[in-house]
Amino acid sequence: MRAPTEAFAYRYAAYGDADVLQRHRYPLPAPGPGEVLVEVISTAINHMDSFLRNGEEDTWYDDPWPRASGSDFAGIVRRCGPGVTTMAIGANVVGHTRTGARASHIVLPADQLVAKHRAIEWEVAGGLFLAGATALETLDDFRIGASDTVVISAAAGGVGSIEAQVAKYRGARVIGTCGERNLDQLRQLHITPVKYGEGMAERIQRVAGGPITPYIDNYGKDGREVAEALEVAPERSRSSADRREVELRLLRDDAESVSHAT
Ligand SMILES: NC(=O)c1ccc[n+]([C@@H]2O[C@H](COP(=O)([O-])OP(=O)(O)OC[C@H]3O[C@@H](n4cnc5c(N)ncnc54)[C@H](OP(=O)(O)O)[C@@H]3O)[C@@H](O)[C@H]2O)c1
Repeated sequence: MRAPTEAFAYRYAAYGDADVLQRHRYPLPAPGPGEVLVEVISTAINHMDSFLRNGEEDTWYDDPWPRASGSDFAGIVRRCGPGVTTMAIGANVVGHTRTGARASHIVLPADQLVAKHRAIEWEVAGGLFLAGATALETLDDFRIGASDTVVISAAAGGVGSIEAQVAKYRGARVIGTCGERNLDQLRQLHITPVKYGEGMAERIQRVAGGPITPYIDNYGKDGREVAEALEVAPERSRSSADRREVELRLLRDDAESVSHAT
């Protein structure tokens, strides 16, 4: 098979819905010192990508236009620049970038990649970074363990489903909120499901039968009210706004943040 000479990426030249994304073609870029060229096999769409694209999130408001999109990807290393010793051509990798993952190829420093475990399918690997790292940061922050009864909202969603499974793995008792259609999915993961909506705090109280340590809200809106109704200490509660801060920290591209995120 002949190596491609062209790459493409989805970019946008104005804030808006997904239809502002346009496919741009350009010559296949070459990696510089310490960089690699990765062929992107799978990438994810996170809420944060949409917030950045529609202007709701203005942290990088002065980025030049047109702008790239997407932070998570998994792919195959196709070229290594001078001085790269940690990655080889053909390596299957999971990576992250502040933006630009929605592309056929991406050039980035080799230290923004880790090896993709062979048991992880491409579709999963390409969506692991932001949701997975956000979930881990939150659980690490609370030092979740066997003595905890954790309530996780939107527990069948992107971040919530990883939080719920890792909290369970760490020995906690996990109660997850979800819609009717996901009650069985959570049960199969040994997570106690509670349907969201009117009366949710009472339903949580009933199944918890004791103090909640902590309450992790992924959904926002009624999250604060529910945490208060459950009498969760403020230092044992995480809001959707806290989650935004965690996600933004994981996307920052200064050397220390990148190293932490990798
Ligand atoms: N503050 C921020 O900057 C920020 C950053 C990222 C995400 N978010 C928000 O966080 C939410 C979840 O994002 P995600 O990526 O983890 O999940 P996701 O994969 O987009 O799924 C959305 C989840 O929200 C759940 N949900 C819907 N209505 C709900 C309600 N009334 N109460 C509790 N949960 C409800 C859904 O449950 P079912 O599927 O079971 O119906 C689903 O699991 C989104 O609404 C997103 O906008 C906020």
